[in-house]
Amino acid sequence: MIDYGECCNFRIIMKKLTILSFESVLLVFCLFGLSLNAFPQVSASLVLEEGGEQVISRHIYGHFSEHLGHCIYGGYWVGVDSPIPNTRGIRKDVVEALRKIQIPNLRWPGGCFADEYHWMDGIGEDRPKMVNTHWGGVTEDNSFGTHEFLDLCEQLGTEPVICGNVGSGSVKEMSQWVEYINFDGISPMADLRRANGRDKAWGLKYWGVGNENWGCGGHMTAEFYADQYRRYATYCRNYGDNRLYKIAGGANSEDYHWTETLMRNIPHWMMNGLSLHYYTTDWSNKGSATDFGEDRYFDVLRRCLKIEKAIDRHMEIMDKHDPEKRVALIFDEWGTWYDVEPGTNPGFLFQQNSMRDALVAGLTLNYLNDRCERVKMANIAQTVNVLQALIFTEDEKMLLTPTYHIYDLYQVHHDATRIPLSLESPDYSYGDQSLPAISASASRDAEGKVHISLVNIDPENALELSIELGELKARKVSGKLLTSQEINSFNTFEEPERVVPVEFTAAKIRKGKLDVTLPARSVVVLEIN
Ligand code: AHR
Repeated sequence: MIDYGECCNFRIIMKKLTILSFESVLLVFCLFGLSLNAFPQVSASLVLEEGGEQVISRHIYGHFSEHLGHCIYGGYWVGVDSPIPNTRGIRKDVVEALRKIQIPNLRWPGGCFADEYHWMDGIGEDRPKMVNTHWGGVTEDNSFGTHEFLDLCEQLGTEPVICGNVGSGSVKEMSQWVEYINFDGISPMADLRRANGRDKAWGLKYWGVGNENWGCGGHMTAEFYADQYRRYATYCRNYGDNRLYKIAGGANSEDYHWTETLMRNIPHWMMNGLSLHYYTTDWSNKGSATDFGEDRYFDVLRRCLKIEKAIDRHMEIMDKHDPEKRVALIFDEWGTWYDVEPGTNPGFLFQQNSMRDALVAGLTLNYLNDRCERVKMANIAQTVNVLQALIFTEDEKMLLTPTYHIYDLYQVHHDATRIPLSLESPDYSYGDQSLPAISASASRDAEGKVHISLVNIDPENALELSIELGELKARKVSGKLLTSQEINSFNTFEEPERVVPVEFTAAKIRKGKLDVTLPARSVVVLEIN
C-alpha cells in the first residue's frame, strides 16, 4: 500500500493533472517507473542556537601523507629533473590544488612507515636505500626526506606534523631529529643541518611520538607504550621560544583500554594531544570503491556514524581524567579503506573515490566540528593517490576527487566559531536498519558570515529542511552543492567533472526562516549574510 500523504508534492501534481483520475495518475507513475520518492519529503528541522564560543580549529581539516604507494613518489615528488613542472622536485599542480583548499597541516612520514624510518638516511648527498616492508616491499631511496618535506610544507603554506620512530628507533635518534629541525645555535645537529644547506631552524611545532604502537609500531601494550612515551617525550626538547606540541600515539578504533591507560599513566603536562585512528571499513570484506549497491552504501555510512559514537566514548574517558580538556583528541588517521583497484599493487592502497566518500567526509567533518572543544586536529588518510585521496596523479596529469571538493566547500569552517544547533532529521532506512538522513554543522567566521554544512545521505529522496535562524537576521543566502547522478559516481582523467560543486539555489529566506531542499545524496554548504 502506498501512503499518499507521505509525498508532499503529490497534491500539486494532482492539481496539474486534473484530467486524470487519482488511480490513473498512479498508473502513469507505475508505467513509467517513476518513484514518488523523487519528490522532496518534508520533515526535517534545524534550529541555530545561541551561545557558541568554541573555535573549530582549522587543524581538523588536516592531512596525512605517508611513504606509501604513489603518495609521496609521483604524488608530490617527481625530482628536479622531471619534465613534470616542479619546484625543487615538488609538483606544482598538486601544491596549487592543496593551496587552494588551504590545508592547515600535513602529517608525515607515516603511518606504519614512521616506525621504520631513520631520518638520517634521508638527509645529505649520500642516502642509503631501504626496503619499505609495510607498503609493497619496494625500495625506498630516501630521496624525499626532512628537507624536502619541510620545503613542501613551506610551498603549501601549511604546518608540518612529524611522527617520530618509537618502534624501531631510539630516544637519541628522535631527540637528535628535533634538535636538527629546531635548534638555531651551535650544536652537532644544527651544524649538520647547515652543512646540508638549511641555515635557519624550521621551528616545527607538531610532533608525534610513534604511530600505532599497539600494532605496526611495535605491538606494545598500552602500559609499556605509556612508559616509552614518557622516555621519548622527555628528550624531545624545546629550543628557543618554540614549544613542541607532543602527540601520544593513540588507540585503535574502539580500544578504550588504550585511551584509559595513557590518560592515567602519562602526566598530562607531558602530552598536548592523544591520537586516535579509526577507518570506515569492514576489515573482513572491504569491498570495491565504486562497484557497490545500496547494501554497501548503507553499510559504509553506518560505520561512519558508528565512529562518531566511539569518539564520544574516547572523549568520556578523557573527560574523566582531564575535565579541563588540556589534552586534545587528535584524530590523525581516518577515512574509507576499500579493496585496491584491480591490477594495482595491493601494498599501494590505491582506491577510487566516489560520491559515497564525499558523504563520509561531509559527515565526519560535521561531527568533528561539533566536538571542537576536545578535537583539535584530524588528518584524513591520505592526501594523494592512497586510500581516501583528495588528488590522483598519473604522470603529468592530476585529478580532483569528490572528497577534495568537500574540503574545498568546508574551508569556511576553518577557525570559525561553532554555532550550536539542534536537528530533527527523518531516517534513511535500508532493510530493518535506519540512520539519520541529515547531518549539519554551523559556524560564524571572522567577518560575521554564518555557514551551515548539510549532508543528506538518503540516496533517493530529496528532503525539505526548515532552518530556524534564531537571532540571525538573514538578508541573503547563497550556497554550493555537491551531488551526483549515482551513489557511486566518480571522476576520471577522461571525465574529471562528473562530480563537482555547483551553485545551490534551493534555499529561500521566508519570515526569518530558511527553507532548503536538500537533493538526494548531497552535501550543501550555505552562506548566510
Ligand atoms: O594509512 C595507512 C595505514 O593505516 C597507516 O600506515 C597506519 O598507521 C594505519 O594502520
